[in-house]
Parts: sequence; structure tokens; C-alpha cells
Amino acid sequence: MTNDDWSKLVDTTDEWITTRTGIKERHFAAPDQATSDLVVEAAKLAVKDARVDYDEIEVIIVGTVGADNAYPSTGNWVQKKLGLKPIPSFDISAACSSFLYGLILGDSLIKAGIANTILVSSAEIMSRIINWEDRNTCVLFGDGAGAAVLRGSSGEEGILSSCWGADGNLGDLLVQPAGGSAMPASAETVAKKLHSVHMKGNEVFKHAVRRMEESAITAIKRANLTSKDIDLFIPHQANYRIIDATIRRAKIPLEKTYISIDKTANMSGATIPVAIDMARQEGRIKPGDNVLTSAFGAGFTWAGLVIKF
Ligand code: UT7
Repeated sequence: MTNDDWSKLVDTTDEWITTRTGIKERHFAAPDQATSDLVVEAAKLAVKDARVDYDEIEVIIVGTVGADNAYPSTGNWVQKKLGLKPIPSFDISAACSSFLYGLILGDSLIKAGIANTILVSSAEIMSRIINWEDRNTCVLFGDGAGAAVLRGSSGEEGILSSCWGADGNLGDLLVQPAGGSAMPASAETVAKKLHSVHMKGNEVFKHAVRRMEESAITAIKRANLTSKDIDLFIPHQANYRIIDATIRRAKIPLEKTYISIDKTANMSGATIPVAIDMARQEGRIKPGDNVLTSAFGAGFTWAGLVIKF
């Protein structure tokens, strides 16, 4: 769906969306697809790429704020749809930071000796939770899923460092108010469109820049590296201007920064794994490269990692 497509539905223009966000187009799931269907497609590609057998997967972690149902978890449906053994499968809710939270959690399970092969995925169907009449938010998002297979290794590759954080005091700045225990669904909540994204964009913007920069710098330091040692930075893609401000503050050159927002928009937690895959396919990541990533999202939540490929 292009910016021009949106301009036929709400009072917006390709020029406004491009200059204010960097977005040119986004992809929306088909009406019969649920979040778990997107995860399954991504998981199949990841399993093939990792050259593992489905039987070897010991845990499924899915990051999403748009589960198929309130319960069971999307992870449970993925386990069923992939025909896997009765392994632990569950969702984590950390919005745009959910893939990085999933990687940190999966890495910890491996290092603790609890599991050795873990499927980590993040998926969102944002088109189901945006208010299609609110130009302030509807044009910003896309649907997608990404997945990775994590595996214990004695080699040098893997997650070199991580940091994560959250501040619930700022939760109201980016929230889907209705549909949970605080405000159960009713005719009134539906009429008032309270089951959709409500965001104070300006406020979120400022916190995003600060936390993305902080996470990137902390992850680099914890890996005992400097920004010069980073071969590619893959930031969360919510707004080109957020990325631009982050790299200026963290002193990371634009040439070493991966930008995919023009093609995908903000797919919440799915943005980073999809961007990593796009970068790999374009030859931007080589074996031995140090890849930095950082994310920020609703909660507020944030995280940063350095990964050696
Ligand atoms: O994934 C993590 C969470 N999300 C984010 O990180 C998003 C963070 N925030 C942002 O990216 C930006 O704040 C936005 C892209 C949401 C908005 O950009 P902005 O430069 O902060 O614009 P604004 O909200 O200050 O709005 C400026 C004007 C307003 O008009 P008035 O009041 O000045 O007349 C808006 O009504 O732009 C108007 N506007 C639009 N105009 C055309 C807002 N959305 C649109 C639109 N088309 N789609």
C-alpha cells in the first residue's frame, strides 16, 4: 500500500508522509491471515536458512502485541501449525522492542543450559489495530513477521552484548486503550475506536531518540567495542528522522546504517528481523561483521544488542 493509496482514504499526501517519516510504502496481511500465519512463513524461512530440523527446536518465543487471540498464545498456534512436539511456546509483549527482548531471553535460556535451539520470532498485523480514519497514526505502520533460530555455539559468532529497559510511567503516550482487563470491549469502546493505536507522536519521538542512542552506546560498550568497530547498524524503523537523530548522537555514519522504513514502514517488533534479513540478502552483512541493533517502543520499552555474524 503506497502513500498515494493512503491519500485516497485520509487527508494526507505522499509529500507529507515522505518528508515527515521516510515511509513510501507498507504491506498489509491478507484478511484470512492471522499473526501466527505470518510467524509460520517467517519460521519456515529461518529454519531452512539455519539448516536445522523442526524436531530440534526446543522453545518458541513470539513477540507481538497483536496475538491471534487473548489466549492461547500465538506461540501455541505456531507450534500447532508447524507440527512441533509439545515444547514450551509463548508470547512476549514488548511492542517494537519485542524481537530484541526475544533474542535476549533466548540467548539467556541457551547460556543457562535450559535449551539449545530456540525459535525467536516477532510479528504484527498493525493494519488490524490502527484507526483507519486517524491520519496521525494510520500511515505509519505496516504488517510483517521475522524469525531467527538461535543455537548454542562455541565459536566467536553470536550475541556479544545486550541491554534492555522499560518505563511504565510513560505507558499512556503510546497505548491501545481498550480490549484488556482495564477496559473490556463494549459497544462504546468500539464506537470510540479505543481498540486502536493512540499515540502522542511528538512525545514518543523525543524519548525514542534518547533511548535508541543510549541503548546503542551501551551495547557497544558492553561488547568492549567502539562505534568504529560496528560494521552495520540496524535500528528500529519508526521514522527516518528518529534514525537520523540517533546516528548523529551516537556518531554512527549513515553509510553504516541500514534503512528499510521506505519499503516496510513501522512493523513494530517485526521491523528489525525483517531489516536484518533484507540486509543479509543485499550482501550488507558478511561473516564476522559486528552488527549493532537498537529498538524503542510502547511501554516504553527499549533494547540494544551487538551481534557477531
Ligand atoms: O515504533 C515506536 C513508536 N513510534 C514512534 O517512534 C513514532 C514517533 N513519532 C513520530 O514519528 C512523529 O511524531 C510523527 C511522524 C508521528 C508525526 O510527525 P511530527 O513531525 O511530530 O508531526 P506533528 O505530530 O507535530 O504534526 C504536525 C502536523 C499537524 O498539523 P497541525 O496541527 O500543525 O496543523 C498534524 O495534524 O502534521 C499533521 N499531520 C499530517 N498531515 C498530513 C499528522 N499526520 C499527518 C498526515 N498527513 N498523515
